[in-house]
Amino acid sequence: MGHLASKLVSFLLFACLHYAQANYPLIHSIFSFGNSFADAGNFVKIAAPLLPINPINNLPYGETFFGHPTGRATNGRIIMDFIAEKFQVPFVPPSLDQAQNFTHGANFAVVGATALDLAFFLQNNITSVPPFNASLSVQIEWFKKLKPTLCSTVQECREYFRRSLFFMGEFGGNDYVFLLAAGKTVEQLFPYVPKVVEAISAGVEAVIREGAVHVVVPGEMPNGCVPIFLTLYGSKNKRDYDDHTGCLKKQNALARYHNSVLFEAVLELRRKYPSVKIVYADYYKPVIDFVKKPARFGFSASSALNACCGGGGPYNYNATAACGLPGAAACPDPAASISWDGIHLTEAAYRRIADGWLHGPYAHPPIVAAVCS
Ligand SMILES: *[C@@H]1O[C@H](CO)[C@@H](O)[C@H](O)[C@H]1NC(C)=O
Ligand SMILES: *[C@@H]1O[C@H](CO)[C@@H](O)[C@H](O)[C@H]1NC(C)=O
Ligand SMILES: *[C@@H]1O[C@H](CO)[C@@H](O)[C@H](O)[C@H]1NC(C)=O
Ligand SMILES: *[C@@H]1O[C@H](CO)[C@@H](O)[C@H](O)[C@H]1NC(C)=O
Repeated sequence: MGHLASKLVSFLLFACLHYAQANYPLIHSIFSFGNSFADAGNFVKIAAPLLPINPINNLPYGETFFGHPTGRATNGRIIMDFIAEKFQVPFVPPSLDQAQNFTHGANFAVVGATALDLAFFLQNNITSVPPFNASLSVQIEWFKKLKPTLCSTVQECREYFRRSLFFMGEFGGNDYVFLLAAGKTVEQLFPYVPKVVEAISAGVEAVIREGAVHVVVPGEMPNGCVPIFLTLYGSKNKRDYDDHTGCLKKQNALARYHNSVLFEAVLELRRKYPSVKIVYADYYKPVIDFVKKPARFGFSASSALNACCGGGGPYNYNATAACGLPGAAACPDPAASISWDGIHLTEAAYRRIADGWLHGPYAHPPIVAAVCS
């Protein structure tokens, strides 16, 4: 698209959003399914009886924005919080908190959640999976239970969901993590990708059948640049690392493969459901951009592959002194860091990704374009 044409489109979207917000909210509710990149309190609730010490329920989690831990696996807001702010929707409450009002949406995401069912892992003797039964399909069941409290007649539900935004993921990262932890090599994970993507695709179809008309489907991060992967799956062979970034090449290749299969699945879903807006949201490109040119995005050069909050070691990720546990501490300026705890990103990184998902270039189409068209 020409520069002028793209300027015009941005202007029209801007006008659409502002008109809509002033008169009639385009988006009045958000429903989110996912894992620790989206969880805002469910895991802390589910895990309480089993995990007397839950690191993400301790400071410095939450220190930057809320001032206390909220169950979000970062120092402040997550991507969805910034998107909720953009649409003037309240922060999406965790679905398992019965005291909440879900009129403006619910967040079903749970730390550690997988795309594939718990039964799949257990049947395949993959016992590295945690015992929490909160996979994608279980989260969809929770949504179906909640739905009758939001709207009742077909017409009412259509009206309600016409102004809802759905997030299906990120999913898949944990599926690969648990397979790796069970001793599989990265190469051995490639054949699982189509199955993982099928589960995500089935999740999108399930919410469409329930009435969703705006669905955002995030892909995988470049996991080879993530401190926990660099620490746990480091190699003695220099050739396993990208010369330019220092990231693990195979892990990134797996993420790119997942994303290409997922993108194809999104195209297929668009053909099948032409009246539904399905956004592919990119985690890979923004994080690679941050790692390659941290200064351009306001991050310090030393933060590229190092966690802000950690207990030492080459990437400042140490499982026995993980963020939120004794022996770990946060860096003085988390806003200058990409990775918060060696697994999840900082609020500053999430803010930039949210902006790129809303307005481009990190989503196809940008979320604002999807809801304004
Ligand atoms: C939930 O909030 C909405 C407005 O945000 C309000 O109309 C409704 O009465 C509330 N429901 C309950 C049960 O408090
Ligand atoms: C997980 O929960 C679902 C119901 O939500 C149930 O059908 C399934 O059997 C459970 N899986 C395991 C492995 O317990
Ligand atoms: C499951 O894995 C364990 C160790 O990884 C092994 O000892 C056991 O034989 C496996 N069981 C099956 C049914 O594959
Ligand atoms: C990781 O943390 C433990 C516990 O604080 C400490 O004993 C160990 O030296 C740390 N490892 C590294 C590599 O810093």
